Amino acid sequence: ITGGHPELAAATAPSSGRPSKLSIVGAGAVGATMAYAALMRGAARTVALMDINAAKVEAEVLDLQHGIQFMPQARVEGSDDVSVCAGSDVIVVTAGAKQKPGQSRIDLAGDTIGLMRKVLPGLVDVAPDAVYVMVTNPVDVVTYASLKITGLPSHRLFGSGTVLDSSRMRFLLADRAGVAVQNVHAYIAGEHGDTEIPLWSSATIGGVPLLDWPGVRGRAPLSAQDREEIHHEVVNSAYRIIAGKGATNYAIGLAGARIVEAVLDDQHAILPVSSLLDDYYGISDVCLSVPSLVDREGVRETVSTPMSEDELGGLRSSATSLREVARQFGF
Ligand code: 2OP
Repeated sequence: ITGGHPELAAATAPSSGRPSKLSIVGAGAVGATMAYAALMRGAARTVALMDINAAKVEAEVLDLQHGIQFMPQARVEGSDDVSVCAGSDVIVVTAGAKQKPGQSRIDLAGDTIGLMRKVLPGLVDVAPDAVYVMVTNPVDVVTYASLKITGLPSHRLFGSGTVLDSSRMRFLLADRAGVAVQNVHAYIAGEHGDTEIPLWSSATIGGVPLLDWPGVRGRAPLSAQDREEIHHEVVNSAYRIIAGKGATNYAIGLAGARIVEAVLDDQHAILPVSSLLDDYYGISDVCLSVPSLVDREGVRETVSTPMSEDELGGLRSSATSLREVARQFGF
């Protein structure tokens, strides 16, 4: 690389080709499925699983190892000892209390914050330079608390946020519009949870603003009622899945693997992850999701996505309610 700032050049050099290590903390439904998704996508050369339940982590690792023949080249290891995470490039934290049917994500805050106080210092000791991706719920509050607990720079610790909610929204939009999900670009911002906000005004289908979408295949354009129903369904997706099978795991596993790739491959991908905001449309000192540039450094910057008055109002109230929860737990 010639010219430019040498330190920045080094920091932005693509990591592909270099062996990369992903550690996943928590070998429950989400952690194990994320490991599987990351391995199937070839997201990292080494995937390490860590869980305090030694029998469970050993079983998950064996089961994954027995499938390595059918995956892109990979190595899988695991332990109940934190040293298995040493030298990680990315650490994803999925460990935490399970949401019971009828419970909201916020109801888990007390238990999870206590767990983060126990787990994070040991992780930072063995992997001080890793990028940390928090997945444990309530992810926005957990991300904020984890930044305070670890003292890590805010770009290097962020939450999976509404990457999952946005993929739910895109699926539902694509389904109603009758187009491929890859041609729908739309983000959910705010809390990964009940106060989240769909950003309709910046959503597009095949390059056409969603609000001007003419409809194809004889289908009508998406009405205000369609949008309302989609918003409602996205907010209630996890409740429905938890009622039916006790946990969500596949889509969050894939969403997590997608975020890991953005980091390890230095993609400069735009993803709605949850990070500490500093004067984002006047919003500061809270972690929530907005479209953000994700690369080898973590969250490089947030994108000033234009928003309608309603969207911005919704984002502000989501910020207020998340801040209140964090305060309740002394942050
Ligand atoms: C989800 O949205 C429960 O946060 C989890 O699937």
